[in-house]
Amino acid sequence: MDSIRVTGGKPLNGKINIAGAKNAALTLMPATLLSEEPLTLTNAPRLSDIKTMTALLQSLGVEVTSMQDGKVQVLSSHAMTSTTADYEIVRKMRASNLVLGPLLARHHKATVSLPGGCAIGARPMDIHVTALEAMGATIDLRDGYLHAEARGGLKGAKVPLRFASVGATENVLMAATLAKGTTLIENAAREPEIVDLATCLRSMGAQISGDGTSTIEVQGVDRLGAATHPVVTDRIELGTYMLAPVIAGGEVTCLGGRLDLVKSFVEKLEMAGVSVTETPEGLTVKRTGDRPRAVDVTTEPFPGFPTDLQAQMMAMLCIADGTSVLEEKIFENRFMHAPELIRMGAEIEVQGGTATVAGVKKMKGAPVMATDLRASVSLILAGLAAEGETQVNRVYHLDRGYEHVEEKLGAVGAQIERVPGS
Ligand code: EPZ
Repeated sequence: MDSIRVTGGKPLNGKINIAGAKNAALTLMPATLLSEEPLTLTNAPRLSDIKTMTALLQSLGVEVTSMQDGKVQVLSSHAMTSTTADYEIVRKMRASNLVLGPLLARHHKATVSLPGGCAIGARPMDIHVTALEAMGATIDLRDGYLHAEARGGLKGAKVPLRFASVGATENVLMAATLAKGTTLIENAAREPEIVDLATCLRSMGAQISGDGTSTIEVQGVDRLGAATHPVVTDRIELGTYMLAPVIAGGEVTCLGGRLDLVKSFVEKLEMAGVSVTETPEGLTVKRTGDRPRAVDVTTEPFPGFPTDLQAQMMAMLCIADGTSVLEEKIFENRFMHAPELIRMGAEIEVQGGTATVAGVKKMKGAPVMATDLRASVSLILAGLAAEGETQVNRVYHLDRGYEHVEEKLGAVGAQIERVPGS
């Protein structure tokens, strides 16, 4: 397994291009299942998770053609061969469960393996199941698979979500586009990736309003057509690279960055003494003092502080001036980066869903272990300012969600290299 080696102490200066959003692409790709016409996605990110989703869709009979080095994906589900999402693929990536809604909507049948837990939590699917059952589906859990059917197709319904689940909102939104009648999703997730999906579905002919708010209304239609859609900028990659100059010093412009995608995150950065300037190119970031200030953070559904930036923010708070309290309210076990940061000299105390971070002036490079996607990049960020060398192992986690991280950080002055695994 490859590892990444970072030598700290180099300030960063220059521009980093932000790619299309992994978490948008992973819901846009299954949307092809809703129509026999082709769906073309541009600005697609080049990530291993995209390859996994491609393999899953191909296992269902979807044709996926990748062009321009993966930046353009053309998908067509006119010749489907299966409606079963196999455990072997689903266990590798939870987002595989996003084929459930579209398969039910157009094929009235779906057999989808339960993803199983992952490092950050149990991540059940009860909200997805309850919502689709409200639309007339019958869903049985047998031998680790959800066996779903919708005889005569799904029906529009009022669907209150007990929690604003991103995936459940996406599954229900896609399912509702072809259901008979009107669907009202209440307590819907408001993430930009939901708005991006709704925008794409509308361009395919869906009738959707209210996306981006807590209540989404969908009028079912008989069929959807072809579309070409640009994947929205990745707000989590954006936030990650915005933290790099805050930790390492210097000034970096994140090309394509949009303030509206990271508003609550930027509010916290500015409280920590960081200057963020929006220009036509993107977002320019630099810290104003020689150390960021401590700030308290609580993760919440959008537009609150994103859980997917919690680990990266913790890396910054480890060297902040003062003590910060981080509350993780979305996942039950998302502080696995803390013990690794402590190996680098951080002072962190974890009690359940709360981590208290007492900032230190300097951390020390060390060999550390990546445990999940966002934890792994937080260790790299910490390594940018640590004394000496940090080696982050098991970076396959990283490659799931970040394109060529060593190239992007190296191009703005970081001393970083990928060490091919044995
Ligand atoms: C999406 O996961 C993202 N993944 C996650 O990003 C992100 O952390 C998460 O939303 C929250 O923003 C993709 O978009 C592919 P949820 P999702 O359903 O949809 C519980 C990353 O690093 N829950 O909003 O799975 C669940 O256990 C990844 O890019 C239920 O209890 O998230 C969790 O505690 C990590 N029952 C909470 O809700 C359900 O039926 C949030 O889950 C569904 C979810």
